[in-house]
Amino acid sequence: MACRDVEKGEEAAASIRRIYCKANVEVRELDLADTSSIRAFVQRLLREVDHLHILINNAGVMMCPYVKTNDGFEMQLGVNHLGPFLLTYLLIGLLKRSAPARIVVVSSLAHNAGWIRFHDLLSQGSYNSGLAYCQSKLANVLFARELARRLKGSSVTVNSVHPGLVRSELVRHSTIMSLLFSLFSLFLKSPRDGAQTSIYCAVAEELHSLTGKHFSDCAPASVAPQGRNEETARKLWDASSELLGIVWDH
Ligand SMILES: NC(=O)c1ccc[n+]([C@@H]2O[C@H](COP(=O)([O-])OP(=O)(O)OC[C@H]3O[C@@H](n4cnc5c(N)ncnc54)[C@H](OP(=O)(O)O)[C@@H]3O)[C@@H](O)[C@H]2O)c1
Repeated sequence: MACRDVEKGEEAAASIRRIYCKANVEVRELDLADTSSIRAFVQRLLREVDHLHILINNAGVMMCPYVKTNDGFEMQLGVNHLGPFLLTYLLIGLLKRSAPARIVVVSSLAHNAGWIRFHDLLSQGSYNSGLAYCQSKLANVLFARELARRLKGSSVTVNSVHPGLVRSELVRHSTIMSLLFSLFSLFLKSPRDGAQTSIYCAVAEELHSLTGKHFSDCAPASVAPQGRNEETARKLWDASSELLGIVWDH
C-alpha cells in the first residue's frame, strides 16, 4: 500500500490484517504531489521486490482550491495524472520483467465533461476546480489507452475504470459536492463496492489479455469521444513527459 500518510496507511493495513490474519500487507510512503517522493518510493521498492504483477493507480484529489504540487504542477493534474504517469514510467521495467502484469488506472465518469487544455494544461491562466478535475480524469483514460497501445505484445495490460459514485473522502474540498453526497448517501456505493471494478480489472482471469478498455460495474463501459482521440492521447503523452523531464518512447 503506497500512501502519503503512513500513519493512516498503517491503520488501514491493521484493519485488513484483523480481517485476514494471513494478509501480507506492507505500507510505504508515496506522495504523488512530489516527484522526489515518487522516485524515492520506487528506488526502495526496487530494492525490496523483484516482481510486480499489479499496479493500481487509485489515488486522487477532487476540486481542491488552486494549489501547486512540490514541482509546481496544478494539484489535480499533478496528483491524478502526472504523478501516476511518472510512477508507472519508473515501474514499467519491473512490470515487463514480471509479465503477465496488469495496470489499472482509476478514472471517472467525469472524464465525459473533460477536455485537455493544451494551451494551459496547468491552469496557470485560469482555474476552475471542477473542470480541472474532469481534465485530469480524461487524462487518466487517454493515458491508459496510449500506454496499452505502446505495450501491445508485452503481456502487460492497461485498463481504466470508473469506480461508481462512492461514499468516500473524495468530496472533502467541495461544500456543494459534500452536501450532494450526504443527501444522496443511500444511493452511493460503499468503499468496498467501489473497489470491485478495480479489483475485477486487476485479477479477473477472463481479462488476462484485454487491454486499452474502460470498465464500470465490472463490465466494459463506453468512453467519451475525446477519450478515444489517438492524436490527443499522443500529444498528452508528449506534454506529460516534457513536464516531468522524462523520455518515454516505449
Ligand atoms: N468517490 C467517487 O464517487 C469517485 C467517483 C469516480 C472516480 N473516483 C476516483 O476514485 C479514486 C479514489 O477516490 P476515493 O473516492 O476513494 O477518494 P478518497 O477517499 O479521497 O481517496 C483518495 C485517496 O488518494 C490519496 N491521495 C490524495 N492525494 C495524494 C497524494 N498526493 N499522494 C498519495 N496519495 C494521495 C488520499 O490519501 P489521504 O487518505 O492521505 O488523503 C486517499 O487515500 C480517485 O482517483 C477518484 O478520482 C471516485
